[in-house]
Amino acid sequence: MKYYIENFGCQMNDHDVEKVSTLLHVAGHEKVGEAAAADVVIVNTCCVREKAEQKFYSLMGRLKTLKRRKGTLLGVTGCIAQLEKENLGERLPFIDFSLGPSSIHRVAEAIESATRSQRFLDFSDNGCGASLHVRPQTAAGTLKAHVTIMKGCDNYCSYCIVPFVRGREKSRQSSDILEEIRGLAHRGVKEVTLLGQNVNSYNKGQKDLSFPELLSKVNDINGIERIRFVTSHPKDLSRELIDCFGSLEKLCEHIHLPFQSGSNKVLGLMNRGYTVEEYSRKLDLLKNRCNKIAVTSDCIVGFPGEDEKDFEATMALVKSVRFDGLFSFCFSPRKSTRAADLPDSVPREEAMRRLQELQSVQKAITREKNRALEGREAEVLAEGTSKNSTEELTGRARSNKVVNFKGARNLVGELVEVEIIKGCANSLKGARLMQKEVCDA
Ligand code: SAM
Ligand code: SF4
Ligand code: F3S
Repeated sequence: MKYYIENFGCQMNDHDVEKVSTLLHVAGHEKVGEAAAADVVIVNTCCVREKAEQKFYSLMGRLKTLKRRKGTLLGVTGCIAQLEKENLGERLPFIDFSLGPSSIHRVAEAIESATRSQRFLDFSDNGCGASLHVRPQTAAGTLKAHVTIMKGCDNYCSYCIVPFVRGREKSRQSSDILEEIRGLAHRGVKEVTLLGQNVNSYNKGQKDLSFPELLSKVNDINGIERIRFVTSHPKDLSRELIDCFGSLEKLCEHIHLPFQSGSNKVLGLMNRGYTVEEYSRKLDLLKNRCNKIAVTSDCIVGFPGEDEKDFEATMALVKSVRFDGLFSFCFSPRKSTRAADLPDSVPREEAMRRLQELQSVQKAITREKNRALEGREAEVLAEGTSKNSTEELTGRARSNKVVNFKGARNLVGELVEVEIIKGCANSLKGARLMQKEVCDA
């Protein structure tokens, strides 16, 4: 059958789509580029904020019409499926199957059942982690791959729905992860990103390798040139992990370390488990260990109880840290979470004002930081031709910043040394250096 997948959400969902595609390929199904050409459409969903949910429901309205016209089978996977369970079938009676994130390994079975007009539902999270073990297929020429090292989250930040839809933390055995990465290296993959909601609590309380030990083993794998990981929780960022930056040569100089708020009062209400001072101290340690480390972060404004002084504290932190990039959001109340019932909600217009103020300050900082890289050198993994010009290649520096530079197609797949000639708002422009020199960006 021909299938099409529409995806929402985070890198876990992107990776789940790769897993689902592999399973469907193995089962003999064929991927197509648009819903209208498909026999089955799968929507992989996110519910981290209300907007993501709204987008899903409006898409389902359009797909309902498609189904009426063409008889297309419709399946829902991911976090909304898990959140709503059987209720989703009542709300959207026209769907044919629905699978939670821990059940995606059953996708081929679900389609097969749907073709017999039997609705297939599975939201079990029995902790066996079967979905964790599905290995996505790596197409020839793939340079970068994600590798799941753990699933779920035990942190229960008061605003966050993820622990409710992704379940308890479960780490994958290190031997299994390392074998997968060796296989990826064998097939030509040069960069791996280790994935989990909170990778630095990998194997917490288990006899297996700790996260820094795992990184060190990945660093030893021949053929892998770059290692990244996402996401880190500040409270679990250990001294050993900080020491990996600067000592593991393949570990890229970038960390995504969400701070969420610059006010200790709000951090307490959010149940984040650290103070602004502790967060700042960890950043100092990171910068002392590796002075060129790029730091990106996440932040929420308009959290219940956040007053003007708390917001100013967030602005002060953003101005003093000068993040390389920041994802910022207005608080969105999520059902089942503790923050949904907190008093002193911030009016929507006020939260929006704060968000705009924060984003405009961060925009200027990002641009200034990009400009400050002009004249520096950077190692770029050339990934393909740039969107803007066929004469340009695009790739990422070790700092994770996008770099576009003039170069021939045969450089794709190579680590190329460039000089940064222009720092733009969201990317860098580079010029190829002919000799291999030290990386700076
Ligand atoms: N596990 C990661 C962590 O702890 O940072 C990321 C989790 S979440 C997928 C990504 C970001 O969405 C969070 O860091 C937070 O800033 C934001 N977020 C989560 N729940 C939210 C909510 N209810 N309203 C607004 N933003 C939210
Ligand atoms: Fe959500 Fe907090 Fe877990 Fe991140 S650490 S997924 S923000 S509960
Ligand atoms: Fe969304 Fe689920 Fe990721 S709620 S952010 S897709 S873990």
